[in-house]
Amino acid sequence: MRLTALNDIVEGGFAEVEAVIGDDAESLILHRDGDAVRAWLNVCPHAGRRLDWAPGQFLKSKEGHLVCAAHGASFELQRGDCVAGPCRGDALHAIAVQVRDGEVWLA
Ligand code: FES
Repeated sequence: MRLTALNDIVEGGFAEVEAVIGDDAESLILHRDGDAVRAWLNVCPHAGRRLDWAPGQFLKSKEGHLVCAAHGASFELQRGDCVAGPCRGDALHAIAVQVRDGEVWLA
């Protein structure tokens, strides 16, 4: 399943897309790191809320962490590990994606 075009994600930034995973429609966080994209379910391990404050609008701290808009949990962007805040030690649920010919696909 195609998710988006690589160039629709700003370098170092985020995008939100909907994808069917298993039988469920899920909201995903996409993060661009050069020519690579990492993806996680848009579900915070703290209280199950979405991390964006409006669809596709994610907070990034000056340390370069993704910050949940609900209660401020911070996640590093290699593995999605929570490094500060109320769910420290937990992690976002990673989703495998791949970039082919400038398009981002579910792997
Ligand atoms: S739901 Fe994300 S920090 Fe509480």
